[in-house]
Amino acid sequence: MNKETILEELKKVNYPGLDKSIIDLKVVEEISEEDGKFSIILSMQNDEAYRILAERLYDLFHGNVDVQRKAITQKKSINYGHTANPNNRAPYAKRVIAVTSGKGGVGKSTVSVNLSVALAQKGFKVGLLDADVYGPNVPRMIQVADEKLRWNDNDKIIPSENFGIKIMSVGLTTPSSDTPLVWRSSVAVSALIQFLEDVDWGELDFLVIDMPPGTGDIQLTMAQELPITAGVIVTTPQPVALDDVSRAIMMFKDIKVPIGGLVENMSFFIAPDTQKRYDIFGKGGGETIAKRYEIPFLGQIPLDMQIREYSDAGTPPVAMGDQLQKGYYKNIADNLLKQIL
Ligand SMILES: Nc1ncnc2c1ncn2[C@@H]1O[C@H](COP(=O)(O)OP(=O)(O)OP(=O)(O)O)[C@@H](O)[C@H]1O
Ligand SMILES: [Mg+2]
Repeated sequence: MNKETILEELKKVNYPGLDKSIIDLKVVEEISEEDGKFSIILSMQNDEAYRILAERLYDLFHGNVDVQRKAITQKKSINYGHTANPNNRAPYAKRVIAVTSGKGGVGKSTVSVNLSVALAQKGFKVGLLDADVYGPNVPRMIQVADEKLRWNDNDKIIPSENFGIKIMSVGLTTPSSDTPLVWRSSVAVSALIQFLEDVDWGELDFLVIDMPPGTGDIQLTMAQELPITAGVIVTTPQPVALDDVSRAIMMFKDIKVPIGGLVENMSFFIAPDTQKRYDIFGKGGGETIAKRYEIPFLGQIPLDMQIREYSDAGTPPVAMGDQLQKGYYKNIADNLLKQIL
């Protein structure tokens, strides 16, 4: 037995519950040898899947190979622990980022789209799941709204792609973008689980989830079904929005989802004609809340007519905007990476 023969054997071993091998899914971190003893180090988040796999490998190599698990370390500042026992419906994603807010219309979808594109611009493989089943805005914001669902030979849904990221949304399943969905929340939840399991995402460095507004069933289910690496919370600076954001922060803390940080959107307005700054929704609210709950402040984005225009046109400002507009989102992506890498 040598490292190569072990590798060949491992190529035939599938991840528990999936038809993809642990080598394809990059679960095997290292195969090493010391004094004629071999060990395999697995990088896995899911406890149950690890236990099954470790047993399978022990049997496969008749107990002659030592199987170990790489500790997944997290920075202390955001480590509130994980949900009691999260399932992992997305083992193909190395990290899951959930973008939420307590309140609607504060810019979750815009932040999700531009954060995803910013991560892709850095060379990461990124998938964006639009979990807002009742108001799926992502397809329009990234110009895939006219695409229809396609399946590959393995009966998996092929995600849409644009600006370097893969995208899946309920909006791609309806005949037109204004078709209303009248689903009970249990149906909505199962649709999202199907998007996690039956979409051919490939391997992802990041799965970014654009959450619906509020703190309801969908948020809870996502936290239970996925090991969320970091929640990103979006708010606007005014006090009413901040009350709602407090609820979202408390919910994440309760269900033990680590918080990657807070984004303050529509922070201020610079009049294009006079360059005068107006703090339309007040000043400093986001930073105050971040301090109060001891969560990182990831950055500000001003209220900017062009950001709205770019988003409506399906051309994300982080890709098509000017240096300043690109900078807001790149800065947020950099600050988030500092928290989670
Ligand atoms: N910084 C900004 N400047 C100008 N317009 C913005 C900015 N951020 C978002 N918008 C616009 O505000 C509107 C709401 O943004 P978005 O859809 O991202 O919010 P949301 O929180 O996802 O809303 P919902 O709760 O409905 O899902 C959109 O038209 C968007 O283009
Ligand atoms: Mg939205």
